[in-house]
Amino acid sequence: MTMPAESHNRSPLIDETLRDAREKFAASHPKAAVAFQRACAVMPGGNTRTVLFHGPFPIRVVRGEGAYLFDADDNRYLDLLGEYTAGIFGHSNPVIRSAIDKALDEGWNFGAHNAYEIELAELVCARFPSIDRVRFTNSGTEANLMALGAARCFTGRDKVMVFNGGYHGGVLYFGHGGSPVNAPYPTVLAPYNDVDGITSLFEKHGRELACVLVEPMMGSGGCIVGSDEFLQTLRELCSDAGTVLIFDEVMTSRSAGGGYQSACGILPDMTTLGKYIGGGMSFGAFGGREDIMAQFDPASPDALPHAGTFNNNVVTMAAGIAAMRDIYTPERADALFALGESLRNRLNDVFRAQDAQFQATGLGSIIGLHPTRVVKGSPDHDEGDDRLMELLFLNLLERGFYIARRGFIALNLEITEVELDGFVTTVEEILKAYPVEFAAQ
Ligand SMILES: Cc1ncc(COP(=O)(O)O)c(C=O)c1O
Repeated sequence: MTMPAESHNRSPLIDETLRDAREKFAASHPKAAVAFQRACAVMPGGNTRTVLFHGPFPIRVVRGEGAYLFDADDNRYLDLLGEYTAGIFGHSNPVIRSAIDKALDEGWNFGAHNAYEIELAELVCARFPSIDRVRFTNSGTEANLMALGAARCFTGRDKVMVFNGGYHGGVLYFGHGGSPVNAPYPTVLAPYNDVDGITSLFEKHGRELACVLVEPMMGSGGCIVGSDEFLQTLRELCSDAGTVLIFDEVMTSRSAGGGYQSACGILPDMTTLGKYIGGGMSFGAFGGREDIMAQFDPASPDALPHAGTFNNNVVTMAAGIAAMRDIYTPERADALFALGESLRNRLNDVFRAQDAQFQATGLGSIIGLHPTRVVKGSPDHDEGDDRLMELLFLNLLERGFYIARRGFIALNLEITEVELDGFVTTVEEILKAYPVEFAAQ
């Protein structure tokens, strides 16, 4: 991270303000502090999911209800993180609850085909235009791994094009030089939203590429939306080279009834899904063109294997049906999208009015806050002063709002406009409380 020269003058002040905010947080979360000590004795860093960690130690949630989370230290937070998009139904939706209760009344762990999986598969195939056939997994990561395998077997090629800053799961991360625990695929790393860049990479590697794996909006990479021109060019390059185009819609599928693909009208050959579609239970899915997916037909002599003890577990399947059939209709998807667009615009208005060093990016109900005015969407560019993000995050916690430490927001269906008014006003108050620290550079 680099900082503009002028910001060095205020740098010690930011350190001091942040130290005070951390101390204040620690003093007001004594039970979370004790839980953290206990957790550290049995889990590295007291953590079993890296992205949830924040300093000085994480809040300890004990209960969720509607749009709210409650922690061990008796604080209530409006949940604006929405379980990184999986928690779109809030924490206690009665329709999902009764679907799960009914499924459990009928017993679980069948180790056999059940009726639920057919209905959920029908709903998914009917909703997402590129999905002729679908298979379920336990996570979005697994869905992407299976889609890559399917594309490589289908084309008989090895290489996979991914994008700088892309995230497709814990073993498929391509920002900041990639992750040392990544699955060892031969990758061609391409620049996101760069039409010339992908065109020249296809000239060089096109015929060796099994597939392109792309998020229509880079989610973890900062909520950067892929331009229509970029996605359309990818579509054409893939068609010309016989390369399978895979849209990772694990996050973006919520942006319209038929996913982002239906909104932008650009259809991939395969799509991966995850997060909210299982009603908030562990979920993933990969699907696409019938000829590609037919490779998994177990009745065929050379079928590709697709394993997973919990792929069709009745809790996820039943919750998913309730979620997609009864709750997250295309109309609800449109309304949530509009709510998010309006929130992002209002946040940017506040940032501009306060002359603050922040910008909000994103798509509909998914928003990324950045402690910088210029967001380019490449992890190689200056991403701003992360201390400002932490200062905003700790101040929001103190005032009862939970977002991701890195500035990620995903709205859930339980949040009202009045609650979002309160959030925007609170952001404004925080910016006013630290005018020097947050001042645009
Ligand atoms: C775009 C995208 N793909 C894949 C994944 C991985 O999904 P999961 O965490 O269910 O493995 C995520 C998770 O955040 C994601 O944002």
